[in-house]
Amino acid sequence: MNETNTELREGLAAAAVLLGKARHVVVFTGAGISAESGIPTFRDPLTGLWARYDPETLETPRAFREDAALVWGWYLWRRMKVAQALPNAAHKTIATLGTTQREVTVITQNIDDLHERAGSSDVIHLHGSLDIPKCFACHRIPTDESWNTDIAAEGVRVEPPRCERCKGKLRPGIVWFGEDLPSRAWKRALATAKSCDLLLSIGTSGLVYPAAEIPREALRNGASVIHINPAPVTQLGVNEYAIAGTAGQCMPLLASLAGV
Ligand code: APR
Repeated sequence: MNETNTELREGLAAAAVLLGKARHVVVFTGAGISAESGIPTFRDPLTGLWARYDPETLETPRAFREDAALVWGWYLWRRMKVAQALPNAAHKTIATLGTTQREVTVITQNIDDLHERAGSSDVIHLHGSLDIPKCFACHRIPTDESWNTDIAAEGVRVEPPRCERCKGKLRPGIVWFGEDLPSRAWKRALATAKSCDLLLSIGTSGLVYPAAEIPREALRNGASVIHINPAPVTQLGVNEYAIAGTAGQCMPLLASLAGV
C-alpha cells in the first residue's frame, strides 16, 4: 500500500470513530458530491457549447434582464442533465445513514434532487431548487406544470414562459449571485449546525458565503468537522479533519468502518 492509500485509510479510520459516536450528524454538501453522477461542478471549466459562458455571469439578475432566453436555456439544459443523472454511492450512503439511530440532516448548496432521489428525507436546500421556478417580477411560484417543457439542448436559447398572474417572465427558483438565501432554510441550517456533534462537509470548495459559514458554525459550537474532497483542504483547525478522496469512494468506506 502506498503512502497516499495509508493516509486515506488512517483518515477514514479516525473519521469512522467520530461517526460511530455521533448522535446528531449534519451532512453539508456541495457540487462535488454530484460530480460522480456526471453533473459538472461550478468551478470545473464548462465544456461543449456552454464553454464560452461562465456560470458566475449567467446566474445573476442582471444576466436575466439582459438575455432571459439565454439564462432560461442554460437552466433547462441543467435540469435535463440532472434528470438524466442518478444518485451515486455517496448520496445513497447518506440516505442509509439517515435510517440509523442518529439524527441526520442534509444541508446542501446543490440545486439538484439527488439526495432526495437517494432517499434522504431531511434535506435543506440553501441555494434553491431546479424544480421550482418563480416569476422574475412578482415572485409567484407557478401552480401548474405548464412551464415544464422538454426543450433543452446545449447552448440553445429558450424564451421563458410567462407568469400566470402578472405575465412576468419565469426565472429559475435558485439563488443567484448577489441574492439572499431563503431565510427559513438559512435559519434552520444555522440552528442545525449549532446543535450537531459531527458535520461532514462533502465536495464543496467553501468559497461561497454565507453557506461556507455552516461548517464554521458547527466548529464554533464544539462539533467535529470532517472534509471529504479530492482537493487538499488547507488550514485545518482543532476538531477539523480532511479525507483526500472522492465522495463516492470515501462515503461507503467510512460508513462501513463506522458499522453503519
Ligand atoms: N468528490 C468530492 N469532492 C469533489 C469531487 C468528488 N468526486 N469532485 C470535485 N470535488 C470537489 C472539488 O475539489 C471542489 O472543492 O468539489 C468542490 C466543488 O466546488 P464548487 O464547484 O465551487 O462547488 P460548491 O462548493 O458547491 O459551490 C458553492 O457556488 O456557484 C455557486 O451557488 C453555487 O452552490 C454553488 C456554490
